[in-house]
Amino acid sequence: MQQLVLVALLASGWTVCSGSGDWCYQTQFICEHPCNAPEKWNHANQDCAGTNQSPINIVTRKTLKDERLIPLQFKNYQQIFRSIIKNNGHSVQVGVPHISTVSGGGLPATYKAVQFHLHWGDNGGPGSEHTIDGEQYPMELHIVHMKSHYTDLTTALRDKEGVAVLGFFYEKSNSANRKYDPIINTLQRIKATNGNTSLPSISLAQLIPPEQNLTSYYRYKGSLTTPGCTESVVWTLFENPIPLSAEQLKEFSTVQYHDGKPMIKNFRPVQSLNGRQVFRSAGAVFLVSLTLLVASLAMTMGLS
Ligand SMILES: *[C@@H]1O[C@H](CO)[C@@H](O)[C@H](O)[C@H]1NC(C)=O
Ligand SMILES: *[C@@H]1O[C@H](CO)[C@@H](O)[C@H](O)[C@H]1NC(C)=O
Ligand SMILES: [Zn+2]
Repeated sequence: MQQLVLVALLASGWTVCSGSGDWCYQTQFICEHPCNAPEKWNHANQDCAGTNQSPINIVTRKTLKDERLIPLQFKNYQQIFRSIIKNNGHSVQVGVPHISTVSGGGLPATYKAVQFHLHWGDNGGPGSEHTIDGEQYPMELHIVHMKSHYTDLTTALRDKEGVAVLGFFYEKSNSANRKYDPIINTLQRIKATNGNTSLPSISLAQLIPPEQNLTSYYRYKGSLTTPGCTESVVWTLFENPIPLSAEQLKEFSTVQYHDGKPMIKNFRPVQSLNGRQVFRSAGAVFLVSLTLLVASLAMTMGLS
């Protein structure tokens, strides 16, 4: 009987709550003001129901080593710039002057940086968009680039390889990462949606691991992870995570959605691969096999 009531409640809840509205993350959904949660993003844009969507779960043993995936070339990533950091209602985003570029490493062109933003969990809990062998990291950085001859993202997104996103994972560390102070210290001032404030001078290089730590990465063709979900993105996901302390990670959960609720779990669930191949750099194969070697050695020696 109780089960029947529950089913009835769920069924009625389904009809009452399945109204339309703006797109939102699952954590924002409330019956009083229904919005389009990820499963309904195709109501906001049909492209979200496409077959080359992002993010994805990367199954490392199914990745294919590609000899062309040598270290990428970063230009002007050390350049210091001033910018505005903004709460856009679903993330915090920073516009980047179009001077830093990335090329090589099997990328089909030279791409220039346009903006970066983040996806995170609840108080340092799981929050990355991509997952590696099912593991979800606490946060993920997206540095969005477009082919260098374009002047705006809208135009670049009409080119099926027009956009390149560099994705970086974060991991909890015991000590604070002082290079993130300029960003984390502004979060209190942009709690409210549409809040913006000036960001002290930073460089892209200070936000990511040193270049020698960026040789291991994954590559696949996918989409934007927010509506319109345009399938014009060449994805590069670096294996080496960026360290942040638990306190630093928690700061991101003080930012708010438009209704004043904490902005948490602003990640899209992983999407089907639909037969796509994920490639790995030569560097990645080394780390993978080294991990396997250590694991099998430990097993042989009866350590695990
Ligand atoms: C920042 O906020 C102010 C209002 O406080 C607004 O006038 C301005 O357009 C905003 N700037 C950006 C880049 O969103
Ligand atoms: C770079 O990689 C090495 C080896 O994996 C690691 O010990 C070091 O912490 C990394 N540095 C950063 C800043 O990620
Ligand atoms: Zn993103």
